[in-house]
Amino acid sequence: MQIHVASIFPEMFSALVEYGVSGRAIRNKLVDLQIADLRKFGLGEHQILDDRPFGGGPGMVMMAEPIVRCITHIRTKLPGDTPVVYLSPQGTRLEHADVVRFSKISELIILCGRYEGVDQRALDIIGAEEWSIGDYVLTGGELAAMVLIDAIARQIQGVLGNEQSSCFESFTNGLLDYVHYTRPQVFEGHEIPQVLVSGNHEAIQWWRLKQSLGKTWQKRPDLLEKLNLSDEQKEALEEFLCENRNMENL
Ligand code: ADE
Repeated sequence: MQIHVASIFPEMFSALVEYGVSGRAIRNKLVDLQIADLRKFGLGEHQILDDRPFGGGPGMVMMAEPIVRCITHIRTKLPGDTPVVYLSPQGTRLEHADVVRFSKISELIILCGRYEGVDQRALDIIGAEEWSIGDYVLTGGELAAMVLIDAIARQIQGVLGNEQSSCFESFTNGLLDYVHYTRPQVFEGHEIPQVLVSGNHEAIQWWRLKQSLGKTWQKRPDLLEKLNLSDEQKEALEEFLCENRNMENL
């Protein structure tokens, strides 16, 4: 997959390229990440990118021309229908299913805004889709772009060491992940659930299902409402609720 990013702070993306699983995927070209410096498309000698908003108000707005020129430049190398994602708090909230859909596209352009926002005409002309990573405001689109790229990268085949690991994680089945433990078995007097060292794989699976449903019930009941639980899942949730009746919010 090829991802092109337009940003006034290209260096920020070195954090993504240098570290972790997504960094390795980028360096190994499983994700071909190309960063265009928006500043180079700025106007005049000083490569200006922003101006005051018509109608008044605080802050500055990114001008249409540098953005349209930058995205047009990126597009010359790509299929005409390559989507452009513009990241902003006004966008549609990104969910797991959207990330999976993006990961199946072979080319994607991401535009990172700064200041108060971008001249709407630029977004109209380039046909940008507006997406948000959550209901809070960042100082720019770069961190949001990195979140999106990281989430996309781990959906691409070959990126995660263990091919199964994205199948069982949070959201894949609409539920939160079960809880995890590793050595030592006892830490500061806290023991791990004994079923995990029982060697009984069926019992472990059942326990994990209960945890996954129970944690989702506790923390994200909105996710449960969207699901049509199977009889097995209903039974697992009921068992979790019975076993944890003494929990504070039960
Ligand atoms: N830019 C600023 N805030 C953002 C958000 N919440 N999501 C995406 N892009 C942003």
